Formats: sequence, C-alpha cells, structure tokens
Amino acid sequence: MKTLAVMSRKGGAGKTTVAVNLTLTARAMGVRAVLADADPMRSACEVLKGRDGAASLLFETSASKLFALTEACRRGGAELLVIDTPAAPEAEVAEAVKMADLCLAVARPTYLDLAAAVLSVAVIQRLGREGLIALNQCPPARAGTEPPSVVKAFEALRFANLPVAPSAMRSRMVYQTAFAQGRAVVEADPDGLAAREVRDLFRHVWRRLNGERPAAMATANDDLARAAARRGGLSLAPIG
Ligand SMILES: Nc1ncnc2c1ncn2[C@@H]1O[C@H](COP(=O)(O)OP(=O)(O)OP(=O)(O)O)[C@@H](O)[C@H]1O
Ligand SMILES: [Mg+2]
Repeated sequence: MKTLAVMSRKGGAGKTTVAVNLTLTARAMGVRAVLADADPMRSACEVLKGRDGAASLLFETSASKLFALTEACRRGGAELLVIDTPAAPEAEVAEAVKMADLCLAVARPTYLDLAAAVLSVAVIQRLGREGLIALNQCPPARAGTEPPSVVKAFEALRFANLPVAPSAMRSRMVYQTAFAQGRAVVEADPDGLAAREVRDLFRHVWRRLNGERPAAMATANDDLARAAARRGGLSLAPIG
C-alpha cells in the first residue's frame, strides 16, 4: 500500500479538494484507494458522508490514530491511502508526513502559497520523506495563453529546483458543484477539463509513489519551462 499525505500550511489552498478528487479518481481508475480525514474540521467527511459506501471509503482520524489506521488499511487490502491534513505547519502534521511515501504540498499560484510550499518541501525532505508541489486554483489559460501568475509559479518552482507536478489544477466551478453533490469532478463531469487535469495529476502522483523518477522537464508543461528558460532569470519574486 502507498500512502499520500496532502498538505499545506495555508488554509483554503485546496487540500481537501485535491485529497477527495485524487482518492475518487484513483478508484475510478481501478486503484483500491481510501481517504483518511485527519483534519478536525472534517471537511472531507462533510463532502462524502452522504455517499453510498462512504464507510469503506472514508475514515475519520487524528494524528494519534494514524498509525493504527494505516495498518488497518494495509491489512484490508487498500492500495492507496490518501490523508487529508489540517492547515498547519509540518510539525503539526508530522505523523502524516512520517507515514507518507509522498507528501503533496498544495499551493495556489500566489507568492505566499508558493513560499509556504517551498518551506514545506524543505521540511518534508529534512524529515527524509519525498515532497511534491501541486498547483491548484490556477486561472485557466485563455486562447492558449497561460496567465502570468501560472507561468511565474512554474518558473519560480523550477528555478528553485523543487519537484512540481506538471499538471496544474485550474480554478473551475465544477470542483465546487461536484462537492455540493458529494462527488469528485471525474464523477460530476467525466469528460470535462477538470476531470482531465485531476486524472493527469493522479497519474503523475501514482508513478511517483511507485518509484518512477520524473524525466527532467519531460512534462506537459514543457512549453512553460521553455518559455521560462527563454526569458532567462527565474526567482521566487512576488507574483500577481
Ligand atoms: N481548483 C479549484 N477550483 C475551484 N474552487 C476550488 C478549487 N480548489 C478548491 N476550491 C474551493 O476553495 C475552497 C477551499 O478548498 P479546500 O477546502 O479544498 O481547501 P483546504 O486547503 O482543504 O482548506 P482548509 O485549510 O480549510 O482545510 C473550497 O470552497 C473549494 O471548493
Ligand atoms: Mg481541508
């Protein structure tokens, strides 16, 4: 069984959205995935409690119960355990970090979110775990042109040589309407753009969890990386 901790010290970055969507996308793609809600706010439970089969999909937990829950999920035959964590510094979600094969730091393409994600990855790596940053709530591209905030976010993370998932999740209403129905975007709108970007993120995460190292820059966002390289300097400068 592989364990994925979804985290961000910034509130509202999209931890619950990413955790719930990745879990349900994994299941839709044939992976036996379960979700642990380790946030006392119980947002994931709030979204999923009305679903058929919620009892075998979702577990309320806390830091002190996480080890036992992980073992129970492993014994129960789960292939993937996703942990939704509270908005807190890594020290406060240390149990989840220690349990995780991969820690996914969710960040919006804003200066403060990126700064928090950079710190998170440093702490995760210092604890000997693997970190990956996933951008969420990115403005959609318009007429094929990436919004400057997204370009700058990828630039900054690549320049800092931080592991970043190549597929960004965009700000799309369907993430919210799907939650209102207790569903993931792959269920609410399986052919939509949001479903596609979540599937892309899941595939990337699953490959990382299974030991595949990403080929340098060989990603769907190569065009972004090339655009960044053409412009020269990259930095974690404030972005709009
Ligand atoms: N990609 C997206 N597009 C549109 N809305 C989104 C997206 N991601 C998250 N949201 C919305 O933003 C809000 C915060 O998201 P979410 O609850 O997933 O964040 P969180 O990091 O788990 O928050 P908390 O720190 O409170 O646990 C929610 O209303 C959610 O529906
Ligand atoms: Mg949450």
